[in-house]
Amino acid sequence: SLQTELKKLVDTVAKPVARRAFDAEMQSFSQLYIRYQEQKSEPCALDWDHIKSPAEDQILPYAKLSTPADPKNLKKLAVLKVNGGLGTSMGMTGAKSALKVKNDETFLDLTVRQIEHLNATNHADVPLILMTSFNTNEDTKRLIKNYANQPPRITTFNQSRYPRIYEDTELPCPRHAEDEKKTWYPPGHGDLYDSLVHSGVLDQLLNDGKEYLFVSNSDNLGAVVDQKILQHMIDSQSEFLMEVTDKTKADVKGGTLIDYDGSVQLLEMAQVPSDHVDDFKSVRTFKVFNTNNLWIDLKALKRIMDNGGMKLDIIVNPKVTEDGHSVIQLETAAGAAIKHFRNARGINVPRSRFLPVKSYSDLLLIKSDIYSVKDGQLVINENRMFGGAPVIKLGDHFKKIRDFQKRFKQIPKIIDLDHLTVSGDVYFGRNVTLRGTVIVVANEGQRINVPDGCILENRLLSGNLNM
Ligand code: UTP
Repeated sequence: SLQTELKKLVDTVAKPVARRAFDAEMQSFSQLYIRYQEQKSEPCALDWDHIKSPAEDQILPYAKLSTPADPKNLKKLAVLKVNGGLGTSMGMTGAKSALKVKNDETFLDLTVRQIEHLNATNHADVPLILMTSFNTNEDTKRLIKNYANQPPRITTFNQSRYPRIYEDTELPCPRHAEDEKKTWYPPGHGDLYDSLVHSGVLDQLLNDGKEYLFVSNSDNLGAVVDQKILQHMIDSQSEFLMEVTDKTKADVKGGTLIDYDGSVQLLEMAQVPSDHVDDFKSVRTFKVFNTNNLWIDLKALKRIMDNGGMKLDIIVNPKVTEDGHSVIQLETAAGAAIKHFRNARGINVPRSRFLPVKSYSDLLLIKSDIYSVKDGQLVINENRMFGGAPVIKLGDHFKKIRDFQKRFKQIPKIIDLDHLTVSGDVYFGRNVTLRGTVIVVANEGQRINVPDGCILENRLLSGNLNM
């Protein structure tokens, strides 16, 4: 059985200390798996008729936060970036935060700049913590070496490494604790809470007098520390705040806050019964989605973890291995923890606090002249203030960082661009300017080179064009 196989896995570790840690990890996995099996036999865990749009007091508009903030609060704050995911949708094999975003600086560099600025302007010493995984730990450690022996304090800890499970036999893929990376997975950012406990970081933070933790995705450069939100958390004695923002048609897949029998909960697409997916996507019923910017009361977290921990909703992530086997990964989302905290609520923040990079289209936008960087923050170009960001759709030839780098000799100037669609085998030269609506389509077997210095304004290029 799975349990026997997990025990055998533990027996492959010889050193007692490492073995104890690995055993604890496999036990947490085992509990997750047992919950998954219980859930499978009782599929109606979520009763759609009980789901309502959140009540007014469950989501506070950001504009209502008026209290002047006391900078002394920063003494009690730590900032954490979840940085354990691979960014599979961008074809990455290491940490996404190691991608260069602006002026040769990575996501991580810019995050450090943001904290430096926060500390310098408030005479504070807010530390930065990075949650890594076995997939991203090396990259991350290499990057933070540049910041050794200088403020801010940067520390890392590894999240859990769980075994992938064969779908048919329900047995683990790895046979040995040292087995290849691809037989394991990091179980989602909801693993944050267990990993904070197992690594000792939670106790360390509390010992250091920290009371609040601001968590966000490592690729979200919009997630800077907002002292008004921190002040609100303290004044309202909320144990957990989730920053949400208004949904547009592009975000209908994001998790949303719901009212479930009077308590505020996160609802992820993966939990929605198939006949209600359209209801879930409705921009009218569920107006906001989760940015994954979360503010957590650390004493409350300690209380919850000491009293049996969390039962976060399980997201089943099916995958197919390189050799064609179907496997499953059981994952959880950090925002799902909201149901375990007292007085928890959402704050509806401006969109600028959520600037993720999910694709090379997003990366092009962020690297372009639409944004500049100030103190690690992306600042939208004044000339774009009212136009909103252009819509960019790069096709399947822009799926990996190497494609992106070789297809853009230089990032085009797009300050006056409204819409760009690129499809097929297309290359951009240096000093290219794109304005209005530009569509470049190279058909199958053809290639388009947009030459150096070219200006394209409201143009459709297609066919085999070597300009
Ligand atoms: P996501 O998995 O939602 O998005 O992670 P992503 O990074 O774009 O990855 P893909 O393309 O969907 O695979 C959101 C944040 O959570 C972190 C990621 O590093 C990212 O910052 N994360 C995700 C973890 O820290 N651990 C995980 O197990 C998964």
